[in-house]
Amino acid sequence: MKALILSGGHGTRLRPLTYSQQKQLIPVANKPVLFYTIEDVIEAGIRDIGIIVGPNKEQVIETVRSVDWDADIEFIYQGEPKGLAHAILVAEEFLDDEEFVMYLGDNILKDGIVDHASKFRELNPDALILLTEVDEPQRFGVAELDEKGRVKRLIEKPKVPPSNYALVGVYFFKPVIIEACKNIKPSWRNELEITDAIQWLIDNGYRVEASIVTGWWKDTGKPEDILEANRLVLDDIKPKNEGRVENSRIMGRVVIEEGAMVRDSVVKGPCVIGRNSQIVNAYIGPYTSIGNNCVIEGTEIEDSVIIDGSVIKNAGRIVESLIGRNVRIVEADSKPKGCRFVVGDNSNIVL
Ligand code: DAU
Repeated sequence: MKALILSGGHGTRLRPLTYSQQKQLIPVANKPVLFYTIEDVIEAGIRDIGIIVGPNKEQVIETVRSVDWDADIEFIYQGEPKGLAHAILVAEEFLDDEEFVMYLGDNILKDGIVDHASKFRELNPDALILLTEVDEPQRFGVAELDEKGRVKRLIEKPKVPPSNYALVGVYFFKPVIIEACKNIKPSWRNELEITDAIQWLIDNGYRVEASIVTGWWKDTGKPEDILEANRLVLDDIKPKNEGRVENSRIMGRVVIEEGAMVRDSVVKGPCVIGRNSQIVNAYIGPYTSIGNNCVIEGTEIEDSVIIDGSVIKNAGRIVESLIGRNVRIVEADSKPKGCRFVVGDNSNIVL
């Protein structure tokens, strides 16, 4: 079996971070979301991986290549993000008439995909989709099931959802899905929808089975989803200290990575402090990920994701925040006092 991982698209709901960064590379517990996907695929025994790349392809390729994966990884360029079914068509040559799992590179599943891959092999259907019950089904593709729990109908982001079963971004397919993708028309949002391609399979008598995801699942499409994914992943971290701690109190499960330094501070887990970061006279509270090469001084941070290279000094108390690369938030050292901002388009500041 092959794997097709999707790491293209514009990520508009994650602006301004996605102006400079491909959304699947945003870190959760200091690891790009895309890496969780690649790890899940490898854990399921798949070694032949194609990654769909789009607008920021160089960034994705460089980040993926910075790790020595136990797999053959090929990058496939999708000029325009014209839909999930379009991505399959772009990858037709790579897929080479073999069965495959398609995994959206912005999805994180607590329990990975091993059990679902076994179910696909065991039931041997034309497609196996993963479903989970959610509170806001209108945000996702939604499945309508019959009395026997078989998939009857799929609708992309319906205004009136027929059930609470959302489609998780992992799909197992036989090669016939390519024919399905060739036979559908673009949707109202001008995309070739994978839900329409799967519906084509159902309508043409092919067998589509469902597998229910019981552990947590997160589509990291919006800033609050990144924070929630960060909490969920941190809930399972194992503590370790590869840095230096001086005159500080470390409580709960805390990861301090190589070269990091914590001085005159209180750190309460679960949280991660990245490589070569400095925490001085600060409080780092639960569910916080501090990236690499950050400086946090005289500030309290809780329930937040701070990405690499940011400097935050005497900034009061920061909560539920997602802060990009190389951001500076520092106390003014000259008059007039007051907040001074240089923020990018579509930034969001709550004082
Ligand atoms: O996360 C689950 C949901 O993912 C499903 O419930 C929906 O049925 C499915 O359509 C999809 O919805 P999204 O609106 O979340 O899809 P999004 O546009 O965010 O794209 C998903 C991933 O695929 C994302 O990592 C970007 C990538 N992508 C997307 C498109 C449209 C590509 O690589 N190429 C594309 O053309």
